[in-house]
Amino acid sequence: MLKTKDPAVYKLIKEEEKRQEEVLEMIPSENYASKEVMEALGTMLTNKYSEGYPKKRYYQGNKIVDEIEIIAEERAQKLFGVPYANIQPYSGSPANSAVFLALLEPLKDKIMGLSLAFGGHLTHGSPVSFSGKYFKTVPYTLGKDGMLDYGQIEKLALKEKPKIIICGFTAYPRVIDFKKFGEIADKVGSYLLADISHITGLVVAGAHPSPVPYVHIVMTTTHKTLRGPRGAMLMVTEKGIKKDPDLPSKIDKAVFPGLQGGPHDNQTAAIAVALGEAAKPSFKAYGNQIVKNSRKLAEELLKYDFNLVSGGSDNHLLLIDLSNKQVNGAIAAFALEVAGIVVNKNAVPEDPMPPFYPSGIRLGTPAITTRGMKEKEMVKIAKWFNEAISEVKNYRLPQAKEERAEFWKKFKKETAKNKKLLLIAKEVKALTKKFPIK
Ligand SMILES: Cc1ncc(COP(=O)(O)O)c(C=O)c1O
Repeated sequence: MLKTKDPAVYKLIKEEEKRQEEVLEMIPSENYASKEVMEALGTMLTNKYSEGYPKKRYYQGNKIVDEIEIIAEERAQKLFGVPYANIQPYSGSPANSAVFLALLEPLKDKIMGLSLAFGGHLTHGSPVSFSGKYFKTVPYTLGKDGMLDYGQIEKLALKEKPKIIICGFTAYPRVIDFKKFGEIADKVGSYLLADISHITGLVVAGAHPSPVPYVHIVMTTTHKTLRGPRGAMLMVTEKGIKKDPDLPSKIDKAVFPGLQGGPHDNQTAAIAVALGEAAKPSFKAYGNQIVKNSRKLAEELLKYDFNLVSGGSDNHLLLIDLSNKQVNGAIAAFALEVAGIVVNKNAVPEDPMPPFYPSGIRLGTPAITTRGMKEKEMVKIAKWFNEAISEVKNYRLPQAKEERAEFWKKFKKETAKNKKLLLIAKEVKALTKKFPIK
């Protein structure tokens, strides 16, 4: 028993469980995996080595693991309507890396993805990530209205002729027109990769259009709206196979032996369980409720004069520019956490502030929807949110960088004791008790 054999780690795990139970987890990339998913993760599959693919392994003793991986592949194929799936990527970043390794010549070929500063992911070509260091990159941005500007994207793609175009984002609150992206990629002759990590559960539920008819490759993490373990999957569509019949084998080879060694078999089993759960009718209702909650939250926050990037939300997340409230995103995120509302600070388009002190915050509804919260609770959350931000409106982040550390120390000390914020945290705790994590 961990409790007696390693009480130090056990105690911290229990504290973290309590924290997750007593707060509103509103980081849009997070969720609560089901007990069954976690049960599969904590099994003796952890012990196995299975380099290779089902029925083509480099190690003995893989008969059962083969069956598990085949179940996971088949469930993914059926759920997303694709002819090929690879379940082995350790997580989303290595999965994207595997696509680049499969298709690009380093320092020569171009990736075109949404700029990190506008809501793209690090691995979509950011200069601080390997994707931007080892490949040429052509970032696109959003329009002035905070929406994807397909005309601008097409112009840039035709000019730069990237080998891969990426659609699918980290901080974009609206519906993605995968059909338009497909038309652009076809005109240019590029591979089109849909990174649906954030919206995958919505796609499965029919709450967001699927990219499958329009793109060549789909990458998704499994731990966000899909409610699985940490992990990722790479899928090739019919359209992808038509463009390049070798695409599945190129991707297989890039994942193993190109980038990874043995797959995490406990993770594969947990992904299979999550895919089984996502195929149930109740998941459809879940995915649609995520969007209803996000829309309601947006509607309520607009009443308090919050400036939502793009003006609202059509998916699971909201991006809020706090400049009109004169509250920095880092300050807001800290105060909200004291109040029991956990979000992340986030850059907004054309943000004049650095990424560590950005002007905005990003929040979403997947995890609170997993707990069973609905529109009624969103009204309460918006009210608490507004009250919490008001509590810190008099704190101004110093312009001078050298004054920031001292300011931050004082701000944190005072805010951690703020009576109003602690009162909200108590109310949040009472609400979470009514919605236990299942
Ligand atoms: C769109 C997108 N792609 C890829 C990733 C990377 O996933 P991971 O953190 O599992 O490497 C993320 C993570 O947030 C993401 O939002």
